Amino acid sequence: MKVAVAIIAVFASIAVTIDATVFFKEQFLDGDAWKSRWLVSKHKSDYGEWKLTAGKFYGDSEADKGLQTSQDARFYAISSRFEPFSNEGKSLVVQFTVKHEQKIDCGGGYVKIFPADLDQADMHGDSQYYIMFGPDICGYSTKKVHVIFNYKGKNHLIKKEIKCKDDELTHLYTLILNPDQTYEVKINNEKVESGTLEEDWDMLPSKKIKDPEAKKPEDWDDRAKIDDPADTKPEDWEKPENIPDPDAKKPDDWDEDMDGEWEPPMIPNPDYKVQAESELAGEWKPKQIDNPDYKGYTPDASIYKFDNIGVLGLDLWQVKSGTIFDNFFIGDDLKEAEEFGKETWGATKEPEKKMKDAQEEEERKAREEEEKSKKDTADDEGDEEEGDEDEPEEEEEKDNTTEEEEEETLKKDKDEL
Ligand SMILES: *[C@@H]1O[C@H](CO)[C@@H](O)[C@H](O)[C@H]1NC(C)=O
Repeated sequence: MKVAVAIIAVFASIAVTIDATVFFKEQFLDGDAWKSRWLVSKHKSDYGEWKLTAGKFYGDSEADKGLQTSQDARFYAISSRFEPFSNEGKSLVVQFTVKHEQKIDCGGGYVKIFPADLDQADMHGDSQYYIMFGPDICGYSTKKVHVIFNYKGKNHLIKKEIKCKDDELTHLYTLILNPDQTYEVKINNEKVESGTLEEDWDMLPSKKIKDPEAKKPEDWDDRAKIDDPADTKPEDWEKPENIPDPDAKKPDDWDEDMDGEWEPPMIPNPDYKVQAESELAGEWKPKQIDNPDYKGYTPDASIYKFDNIGVLGLDLWQVKSGTIFDNFFIGDDLKEAEEFGKETWGATKEPEKKMKDAQEEEERKAREEEEKSKKDTADDEGDEEEGDEDEPEEEEEKDNTTEEEEEETLKKDKDEL
């Protein structure tokens, strides 16, 4: 019985992997060779440097090597290319691990998925991407997972708040986008959010009216169809329903003075009958075409679709550096992504935690020793006041807002006053 189950399981997993495609996988397992696959943008001259390392603590000193941000208060911009593909009719899975071992205060931990025509050497914050996905931390207020989709040239943020992990351990982030326009976000192989693109983003005008008091904009046009201006009334259209009887004659004894002007009696128009039987019966109306100014709701079953996916980029800002990115995966099969997650993050998370705990224990002991010896010296020197404990240094408050953005914030502040 057990054997049978095992065999079925093996076949099932083969069936899953047979038609699964992996478009991009990067584990940094070949030393410096990653440098030939990844390109640092030259858009700015002072982008931060990336280092290959497993960090201060890890589950496996080789397998856990990934790309680490190594300079504080810098922008980072690096990307890697793969064979372009379209996710039409297939699921798209984007997955990677991120470790903020530095106790991050403010910095991005997300990836951007670009069209293949991206100029990698010029990649920067405004380069148009298809998808932005992953954690972002800044102070206490921003601790979220971004899921941004580009639709017709505009970026649309998810309307739901997805909390990200803010500890120092490695976490696995997965985005699944399905051709039925549903999505799922997983952290550490567990679902944290799901829904539909239509409901959780505002790419399409809403089907529902949110505010009954809201006024219709002046230029709002809710006629889905309009008259085709190119359509003209056929020349022979006018065929009255009744016509004067062509056979009628004025009676001989008709007295115009007494009886008024003679008019022939009306009879049904034989041509009208022909019209009435045809589809064009009755009043003439121009043909209907789609109104080009229509502002109403139009469903779009292809919001999930990106035609030319070809580059994965890390384009972010970090105040305190030290984040390690690893185990990138882009594919069309959820099971495969899940397996890859288990093999990588799943295999090293426990030993990583152990090593971190052990280090912290050592540090704690060392601190205690130090304090004890300090106290002993202080006692020896007489009853002086307790020395102040090492206070954490104030973080240098540098930020990533551009001058225009700062101006805009200032303006906004003024407006609010
Ligand atoms: C600056 O970076 C932080 C961290 O990634 C991010 O949350 C914030 O939105 C960024 N601000 C701007 C203006 O780009």
